[in-house]
Amino acid sequence: MRFAIKTLALSVSLLSSSGLMAAGQAADAFSPEAAGAIEQKKLVEAHNFMVAAANPKAVEAGYAVLKNGGSAMDAYVAVQAVLGLVEPQSSGIGGGAFAVYYDAAKQKVTTFDARETAPLEATPELFQHEDGTTYKFYDAVIGGRSVGTPGTVALMQKLHNVHGKLPWNSLFEPAIKLATDGFAVSPRLAGAISQTHESLAKFPETAEYFLDKSGQPLAEGTLLKNPKYANTLKHIASTGAEGFYHGQIAEDIVNTVRSISDNPGVLSLADFQTYKVKERPATCLPYEAFDICGMGPPSSGALTVGQILGITQHFDLASMGPESAQAWQIIGDASRLAFADRGRYMADTDFVPMPEGLLDKSYLATRAQLITPGKALSSVAAGEPRWQKAVVQADDQSIEFPSTSHISIVDAEGNALSITTTIENGFGSRVMSNGFLLNNELTDFSFASYSEGYPIANRLEPGKRPRSSMAPTIVLKDDKPYMVVGSPGGSRIIGYVSKALIAHLEWGMDMQSAISMPNMLNRFGIYDIEKGTSAESLAPELESMGFDVSVKDLNSGLQGIVIENGKLYGGADPRREGIVMGD
Ligand code: GLY
Repeated sequence: MRFAIKTLALSVSLLSSSGLMAAGQAADAFSPEAAGAIEQKKLVEAHNFMVAAANPKAVEAGYAVLKNGGSAMDAYVAVQAVLGLVEPQSSGIGGGAFAVYYDAAKQKVTTFDARETAPLEATPELFQHEDGTTYKFYDAVIGGRSVGTPGTVALMQKLHNVHGKLPWNSLFEPAIKLATDGFAVSPRLAGAISQTHESLAKFPETAEYFLDKSGQPLAEGTLLKNPKYANTLKHIASTGAEGFYHGQIAEDIVNTVRSISDNPGVLSLADFQTYKVKERPATCLPYEAFDICGMGPPSSGALTVGQILGITQHFDLASMGPESAQAWQIIGDASRLAFADRGRYMADTDFVPMPEGLLDKSYLATRAQLITPGKALSSVAAGEPRWQKAVVQADDQSIEFPSTSHISIVDAEGNALSITTTIENGFGSRVMSNGFLLNNELTDFSFASYSEGYPIANRLEPGKRPRSSMAPTIVLKDDKPYMVVGSPGGSRIIGYVSKALIAHLEWGMDMQSAISMPNMLNRFGIYDIEKGTSAESLAPELESMGFDVSVKDLNSGLQGIVIENGKLYGGADPRREGIVMGD
């Protein structure tokens, strides 16, 4: 069997549009060409620096910054400002993000948490009706109620303060120019508007921006200008994050969110005035010759990816290979075990205690012993990791839908930055202010606070950060960055990132092939297999092992860079519009 994707979105010509990129070898054993029906993205090689993100215009802005001697931090600011314009449905200054950073001078990896916070006026019952029943998901999402305090502008400023080399205001120029002159609506943005236009139409600023004069979704290729966003960026460029969190922009957001008649929110100026990016130690799993480092709580990303790989490393995946149903059974069951712990234990540890032993070698060995090769687990429950202080908690009940965007950057000094950035749902809360969309991140909390009398770790509390699945990752080898990777996709992020790591570290695929290979993942029991790919042929065997299988679109948006033998090798997900550029 050749294991390959058969459908995709973007042509190779986009990837090789700059002579500054070196196109490396195409995907080999897993090449879509093997399936005969797809244009594949090619591995990009460079020597000095590299940037990968979800939209060519954003990558071009980051590339120009790096080419001008800017740092990874500088490049992020430029990429994020453009992404918020050209891929507004996924991330932007109305949302939040997590950054994993390797500081080449200090030879140290650290993380920055710019997750949105629950408003100080929010109560744990924000998504509960008076009779205690919980809101339907989209009734909670659409409107002001779901909007948390945005963290992205504070992150841009924080990262620039840590290691910005170019002037802050210069980093906004590409986005301001594009917003002023206009950009062509991309196929992906046009498709997203079309799918979401009914809810976009509910809010005047949103409707005016994303729909045409007759109320129809903007078509692909439409020249779209955003003078309000240009003005907002000009203000941030001249006043810094201070100008976002204090003053007119914050006041406008608060007023907009609170004045939505049928679903108002409770965000206040105090939330903006007290918002802080938190630097936290990276969460790392020792893995063979590597350390897989990522974002700890309030994200479940690094812990859950870490548990999956910490369990699967007890099996010989390398010799089973990627076309083995048994390998995927082991990965799927490891993932189910990890998701059981995630649901029970993982949340914002500034608010709830969490076991300390979730990545203990001995604990993961006992979890691995539950797996029988060739036979799916008949039941899965949270384990009993080491606690400093035990508490009884109920399993989580939050719902998560795919969204979000990932950026991987390595600069000429060897600093590496892995950032996953989001406004949560596609188009977030659908509410716009000052030319950008506001997040619906609060719906990443469990809507219920208790289950059968026991508290749920990821329950909503004022000031708390909702649990995330975002898994920006930096793999270290000999304490130096070796791999920079991440993906959007809601709770499927964890499966996408695990797949890319296993494909490269165990199966020796280059970064592009590891990203392109079909997605297969299991979170809560059902085995999701990517539609239109040769992985569908594994379905019968997985079913015979005891899994329920669902064949569906699995739109990861992996962007990754491998650093090896003094060179950079980058890959961008063929399922989305991203590219890689390097020099
Ligand atoms: N809202 C997506 C995530 O944080 O996982």
